[in-house]
Amino acid sequence: MNYLVTGGAGFIGANFIKYILKKYKKISIIILDKLTYAGNLGTIKEELSDNRVTFVKGDICNRELVENIFMKYDIDCVVNFAAESHVDRSIENPGIFLKTNIIGTQTLLDAAKAHWTIGKDEKGYPLYKDGKKFLQVSTDEVYGSLERDIPEGTELKVETEELKVILKDREVMPRIFGENFFTEKTSLDPSSPYATSKAGADMLVRAYWETYHMPVNVTRCSNNYGPYHFPEKLIPLIIKNILEGKKLPLYGDGKQVRDWLYVEDHCKGIDMVINSGRLGEPYNIGGFNEEQNITIVKLTIDTIARLMKEQPNYQKILKTSLENINHNLIAHVHDRLGHDARYAIDPTKTVRELGFYPETSFVVGIEKTIKWYLDNQEWVKEVVSGDYVKYYENMY
Ligand code: NAD
Ligand code: DAU
Repeated sequence: MNYLVTGGAGFIGANFIKYILKKYKKISIIILDKLTYAGNLGTIKEELSDNRVTFVKGDICNRELVENIFMKYDIDCVVNFAAESHVDRSIENPGIFLKTNIIGTQTLLDAAKAHWTIGKDEKGYPLYKDGKKFLQVSTDEVYGSLERDIPEGTELKVETEELKVILKDREVMPRIFGENFFTEKTSLDPSSPYATSKAGADMLVRAYWETYHMPVNVTRCSNNYGPYHFPEKLIPLIIKNILEGKKLPLYGDGKQVRDWLYVEDHCKGIDMVINSGRLGEPYNIGGFNEEQNITIVKLTIDTIARLMKEQPNYQKILKTSLENINHNLIAHVHDRLGHDARYAIDPTKTVRELGFYPETSFVVGIEKTIKWYLDNQEWVKEVVSGDYVKYYENMY
């Protein structure tokens, strides 16, 4: 089998490649990545020397290049991670988001359709070679925002037996901040230019299913965290700033809610959808870990402080003294324009149909993530060289 993985030098794409190469011996991967500020070959250094991996530097919007890849390799599955992914950047500069996220997706869909078609059925719909799939990696942000300020002590309402089963054995009960969740039936109602571009791509993928019966799936997942996360996003940014003794910028009151999903659990979910997802269907992938940003930041500070005490060896990484690692580092700054209040995924359909389970509770996941950053400071230095400094100074 040949997978075309776009955006494979970015955060989730790279984790997915590592997951697939470890799990399957007979899958070869062609990576197509433009290597924007968010893509880094250092992230996939080991994988690049694996003879099952081919790297192509280039843009998913480049029709000729994408065509050539399909001509050269018999691609069985496209997993489209390539995207401009940061909401704050989309507020500054929406154009590149529309281009990469929408036109890029269409370019990939067109090439896959052309190369996978083997004829037409009696109604004129294209017929496809067996076993092909186009998997579009999308986000819960396409659903827009949910309410967030529910009264203290409101009980979690679990509607289905499947959810009860998921929740029963969790080490830490999930915290839920409202009664509504996004299901796959929730209407798309995006707020930011980023979310809108992702919703546009989702709709295109759906259009290729409805209009051409293309073998597609869309996955929509919540906020990922874990190794190789670029330090412009909340969790890696604050880990980096804590270690440097810098202020931790918290937008507005910090009470916005996100559902946090450990990246490996996301990769597992995508793999399940590729193998068993019903064609044409969207699947939600969530972590059952809703939390307010301020709590995430405090927990990260506390975990780093604890790890530094437990393993004093790590203290040599600090650019500040250990006493300074406390909640006073938090600085409330200007809120994000159009800031979505709450995201919350209901993954029941993915659980019921595919047996998906978000295995990593947040306390376990955040400790693994922090340790990874402590052990991989060279990677951090590498990815924040160049434009990052300019971006950071502009933002904060
Ligand atoms: P990322 O920004 O870390 O990586 C994006 C990768 O795509 C980079 O390697 C970059 O070089 C590449 N890229 C960008 N433009 C390209 C282009 N025109 N052609 C080819 N390559 C290009 O993003 P991520 O966080 O890994 O997200 C991956 C996907 O998952 C995105 O589609 C994103 O919308 C989606 N997603 C992310 C999250 C999250 O929490 N990070 C959650 C839900 C969905
Ligand atoms: O929900 C899935 C989405 O999660 C993905 O589709 C996006 O690609 C990904 O970037 C992420 O979007 P968010 O905007 O939720 O992630 P971010 O890490 O930028 O911000 C998380 C929350 O923290 C959000 O409410 C904004 C807030 N925040 C963020 C930063 C960078 C701060 O308070 N301060 C910050 O400095």
